[in-house]
Amino acid sequence: MKKDVEDEKINTILEHAILCQSAGNLQSYVIFVVRNKEIKHALAKAALSQMFIAQAPVVFVVCADQNKAANVYGIRGYELYAINDASIVATYIELIACALGLGTCWVGAFDENEVRKIFFLPKAIKPVAIIPCGYPAETPKTPRKRRDMIYFVDGG
Ligand SMILES: Cc1cc2nc3c(=O)[nH]c(=O)nc-3n(C[C@H](O)[C@H](O)[C@H](O)COP(=O)(O)O)c2cc1C
Repeated sequence: MKKDVEDEKINTILEHAILCQSAGNLQSYVIFVVRNKEIKHALAKAALSQMFIAQAPVVFVVCADQNKAANVYGIRGYELYAINDASIVATYIELIACALGLGTCWVGAFDENEVRKIFFLPKAIKPVAIIPCGYPAETPKTPRKRRDMIYFVDGG
């Protein structure tokens, strides 16, 4: 039996994650915290049958609230800032979960319409990341990372 994730830890993750920066502090995102078995299964199917999602005790689904950002920042808010806000809070969720001894995986490969159906999402709420979260079964090696896309622009 997999170890469950304590509600207290979920609350700690959320309370700290929402402290992240967002455009104009609007927090143009929506976070679903899913423990329901059927919904986790539906999410796994929607994510091109990445069934490990269904096995996680908890799954965060982070969406961009595009109209919220658009109300203040127009088209740039709609197209960019809401996606930025959702991505930043999703990253914080992962970092804080990690600091609490939990493991996560950012899942971006999913059928957006299928995810929309699961949560009855209107057009301007765009699912950005599905994040299964649980106690890691193993400690993965840090993958090799390249450096050749970093440019130092000095002097002048
Ligand atoms: C935008 C994005 C989409 C991703 N989608 C998936 C996914 O659908 N399934 C998956 O298993 N991992 C997914 N990942 C995780 C990456 O594959 C993983 O982070 C990468 O292999 C590097 O490993 P590391 O995170 O341990 O450095 C995604 C990561 C990002 C940032």
